[in-house]
Amino acid sequence: MALFGKKELVGLDIGSSSVKIMKLRESGGTYQVAKFGVEPLPQNVVVDGAIMDHSAVVEAIKAGFARLGIKERMVATSIEGHSIIVKKVILPTTTPEDLEESIQWEVEQYIPFEVKEVKIDFQVLGPLPDDPTRMDVLLVAAKNELVEDYVSVVKEAGLTPTIIDLDSIALGNAFEACAGISEAQIPMVVNVGANFMNIIILEEGVPLFTRDVLMGGSMYNHELQRNFGVSYDIAERMKKGEELEDFDPERVDAILKNVSGIIATEVQRSHNFYAASFPDKHVTKIFLTGGASRSPFLREMMEDKLGIGVELFDPFDGLVYDESEVDGEMVKAYGPAASVVTGLAMRKPGDK
Ligand SMILES: Nc1ncnc2c1ncn2[C@@H]1O[C@H](COP(=O)(O)OP(=O)(O)OP(=O)(O)O)[C@@H](O)[C@H]1O
Ligand SMILES: [Mg+2]
Repeated sequence: MALFGKKELVGLDIGSSSVKIMKLRESGGTYQVAKFGVEPLPQNVVVDGAIMDHSAVVEAIKAGFARLGIKERMVATSIEGHSIIVKKVILPTTTPEDLEESIQWEVEQYIPFEVKEVKIDFQVLGPLPDDPTRMDVLLVAAKNELVEDYVSVVKEAGLTPTIIDLDSIALGNAFEACAGISEAQIPMVVNVGANFMNIIILEEGVPLFTRDVLMGGSMYNHELQRNFGVSYDIAERMKKGEELEDFDPERVDAILKNVSGIIATEVQRSHNFYAASFPDKHVTKIFLTGGASRSPFLREMMEDKLGIGVELFDPFDGLVYDESEVDGEMVKAYGPAASVVTGLAMRKPGDK
């Protein structure tokens, strides 16, 4: 592949609220956005990370590629969910080639599924400083059926799934490239989508902790629907701050605050879990991103509960783009929701 020059992959993030597509151009360490688009998906097409309605997703992907005029067919896409395991493990030092052969046997003890039920991938992080006969390896295991679901949908849309990443890892890569923070920091990046919240804690770009929690922006809609008997779409307008005359704004706020409190508590639980395993590596700051990062009261409540500063992260702040290629209104509306797709668009065909 390298024979034909530097090929770029198109990033394709299949989320439960929409499909996001991005193409980047890299030059001298800066990323320029060449294409960016979002195709909304109807509700219940993707549920708990599983694709329930293949043809709706295929249609959205095709429509997005056509609208953006993207000719490239090779994509990097990603999966998220409970059945994915990411773990840093210590293994005897060997070459990546040999590890490829032996990984199945090495990892059996670390995963709660049958080895034959999962796809395993790894990244060698390097030898232990005090014992070079052993090395740190980042291990990823995902259920076969989940991976195959995404692969088949991408193929049905006429594309080649060159890389299947994880939402949390793509999020970490986008953050590393776009946030421009110092190596001394230990950031916790929290991506709140419609149904999932992806959390990653990084040290010098290496993940120390990742977790996908089944909780997100649609929780506000469901609570508003339950309390006011309104539709999902009306609830969507209410939570985005539209004052609809039939509803008491104080009651609306109380419900929104309650949901933000639940989400913030969940972030706190993940943080506590992390802090128990890494007592000497304190999180220095929290970066909140994802479509639902702008949910009312969420940032403040996270700051209160965790006692750590919370900042909003929009990958476009670290990307350049030209308004003749990329629609500025689109960036304003969907910038924070583009963190995962940005990390995917940064992947190269030969990457691990
Ligand atoms: N301005 C806003 N205020 C509050 N919520 C918003 C706003 N804009 C978008 N959202 C919410 O963000 C969510 C969509 O975010 P995102 O696009 O990151 O999710 P997704 O990737 O489709 O879903 P997931 O990865 O969880 O399956 C929806 O719940 C939407 O209502
Ligand atoms: Mg998402």
